[in-house]
Amino acid sequence: MLKKFKTDLAAANAVCDRVETLLSVKKDALICIAGGDTPLQTMQELVRRSKTGQIDFREAYFVGLDEWVGLGLETPGSCRATLFSQLFDKLIGLKKEHICFFDGKAEDLAEECDRIDQFVDKRGGIDFILLGIGMNGHLGFNEPGVQIDLNAHVVELDSVTKQVMSKYFEKDLPLTQGISLGMKQILASKEIVVLATGTKKAEIIQLTVETEPTPQIPATFMKKAKNAQFFVDEAAGSLV
Ligand code: F6R
Repeated sequence: MLKKFKTDLAAANAVCDRVETLLSVKKDALICIAGGDTPLQTMQELVRRSKTGQIDFREAYFVGLDEWVGLGLETPGSCRATLFSQLFDKLIGLKKEHICFFDGKAEDLAEECDRIDQFVDKRGGIDFILLGIGMNGHLGFNEPGVQIDLNAHVVELDSVTKQVMSKYFEKDLPLTQGISLGMKQILASKEIVVLATGTKKAEIIQLTVETEPTPQIPATFMKKAKNAQFFVDEAAGSLV
């Protein structure tokens, strides 16, 4: 369930290998990749492999994992801005209509959740999902106290998430809610990788590994998923 890699780069390469294998057998697979800092190296390597023709994204589909309510493409640090600038805009041949991403500025957020759910359902669920882990054990914006039977939904941000979020933005933003795929969709994904790198993730990785599934630490529910793995570098895996 936990795979340790010598470096963060080695872990990112291993994630890319999974994506490469998947797309070689299922060209129109549905992929979901978290925003945040952790997947940035993976995105860079996916772009490289796309440019060299090693991975063909022409038929691939992508769905967003989450977004800060109130933010859109114009805010650097929003999930949309990160995914488009670091990944989608750079993948060769990826069709824009194959991407379905949360609009954090949608007037009707419930409708926005339905739109995402329908996209996922139409593709028969998610084939591969790459998650990061929050300092509080959140996955996407599935915060402590999570309900595991939900699809896309609006979430009140946890206090830890609110403390940490300033690292993504140029100035302080008064964000209180997120919109996120739910644990039901995440757990139903055919392949799940939770990637954690760096010493600051060591404690939450240890806590997750040592704790039975509990809503207080959403990442512990990965133990209930058939095909979930934690990929950690030596720093993040130093306490386990
Ligand atoms: C971002 C997301 C979050 C992050 C998590 C880790 O789209 O869904 O759950 O994956 O907070 O963030 P980083 O990678 O910045 O440490």
